[in-house]
Amino acid sequence: MTISSEKELEALRRIGRIVAAVLRDMGAALEPGITTRELDEIGRAGLEAQGARSAPELAYGFPGATCISVNREIAHGVPGERRIAAGDLVNIDVSAELDGFFADTGASFAVPPVAPRIGKLCRDGKRAMWEGIGAVKPGARLAAIGERIERFAEKGGYTLVRNLASHGVGRSLHEDPESIPTWRDASERRRLHEGLVFTIEPFLSCGASFAEEAEDGWTLLADRPAPTVQYEHSMVVTRNGPLILTMV
Ligand code: CO
Ligand code: CO
Repeated sequence: MTISSEKELEALRRIGRIVAAVLRDMGAALEPGITTRELDEIGRAGLEAQGARSAPELAYGFPGATCISVNREIAHGVPGERRIAAGDLVNIDVSAELDGFFADTGASFAVPPVAPRIGKLCRDGKRAMWEGIGAVKPGARLAAIGERIERFAEKGGYTLVRNLASHGVGRSLHEDPESIPTWRDASERRRLHEGLVFTIEPFLSCGASFAEEAEDGWTLLADRPAPTVQYEHSMVVTRNGPLILTMV
């Protein structure tokens, strides 16, 4: 969506803060022994306490309030009986709706003990996202986001997952502009305009380049068993640059 009033901005900030707080609380609850279902229940309770509804459930009938993806799973993991173990790399993606407005955020968490390579991957995954966010201003080429992210990834010797794109958000979970590349894409000709609401969520990896659907029809797996992280914010393009919605 493109916002046209202060009221719309306020509504987006409200749901943005809610998903950010739920993501933070789920990350804090992550420890060896907890099942992904228990973790998801913490997320559901956090959303419900604010009157918000899970977006993947609402939009797609996803079997969980949040997406929890462990190790080889990199996105859309279904909460269940799996127990988190020491050393797991866990991605939590929280998106929700309140009063007809949607926000979407995600982050990867390394469960101790954290190997140095994984700690660095997590830090660099966040930096990759912020590299992309740094390209956001009215009139900017949308392709500049992916160009900056890919330049950063290359410098660090990383790969990017090339079939999980960023997207418009606001009045629904996924909306126009669809398929915003977080990698170099010569065919990308669109531009950003003031008021546009969208996500930036690169998947930075130590070797994976594609996500493949698992047999459950939901979970997306890395094409290679390589550690992969995702960090995601929803934002609005303003005259002064990006306004991040999904911060506590
Ligand atoms: Co998300
Ligand atoms: Co998203």
